[in-house]
Amino acid sequence: MKFFIDTANLDQIKEAQDLGVLDGVTTNPSLMAKEGITGKENIINHYKKICEIVTGDVSAEVISTDFEGIIKEGEELAKLHDQIIVKVPMIKDGVKAIKYFSDNGIKTNCTLVFSPGQALLAAKAGATYVSPFIGRLDDISTDGLNLIAEIRMIYDNYGFNTQILAASVRHTMHVIDCAKIGADVMTGPLSSIEGLLKHPLTDIGLAKFLADYQKGN
Ligand code: E4P
Repeated sequence: MKFFIDTANLDQIKEAQDLGVLDGVTTNPSLMAKEGITGKENIINHYKKICEIVTGDVSAEVISTDFEGIIKEGEELAKLHDQIIVKVPMIKDGVKAIKYFSDNGIKTNCTLVFSPGQALLAAKAGATYVSPFIGRLDDISTDGLNLIAEIRMIYDNYGFNTQILAASVRHTMHVIDCAKIGADVMTGPLSSIEGLLKHPLTDIGLAKFLADYQKGN
């Protein structure tokens, strides 16, 4: 299972990279704005900085919603760095653009996916990744993890190569449940990764080992 960090915060990206378990980064316009990164040039420079920190895939989202605009923007983004994955929304022109990118060797992440049908379309169009948003479904009393399970079944039925990127992960249990279901990737905040470390018995056990070692000295 790949771990992506879902942020545009360079310090957090570095921290996750230093832990040695990071496989990539996802961003979106809201995450960029949260870090105060606005304007095309600043956003482009920020993607370059992220690519210098990590060795894996970095999703960069297009803003256009028409086919020609998505293609132009996506081709520009893809040229920035070979780690860039063009993130395209699940809309009609987005599906057409994913097919175009797929035919032309540009990797994509189909974002804003909330149903199995949308995920099926993304896979048919040749998306590299599909991003079902589990946290946002949970927010409206709908089982986000069930969507991951449904997509897993559909993709396995037909051997689709599109990787299921569980997005909108909010906490450690989302990560663990996605791993049980068989999501290929999860993207979440640093806390959802570092939270996996924690267990009180580890802390108690370590404190006892260290105290017992001191007795002999
Ligand atoms: C990542 O690709 C998504 O944009 C992100 O996970 C959305 O997360 P949110 O629902 O917490 O905003």
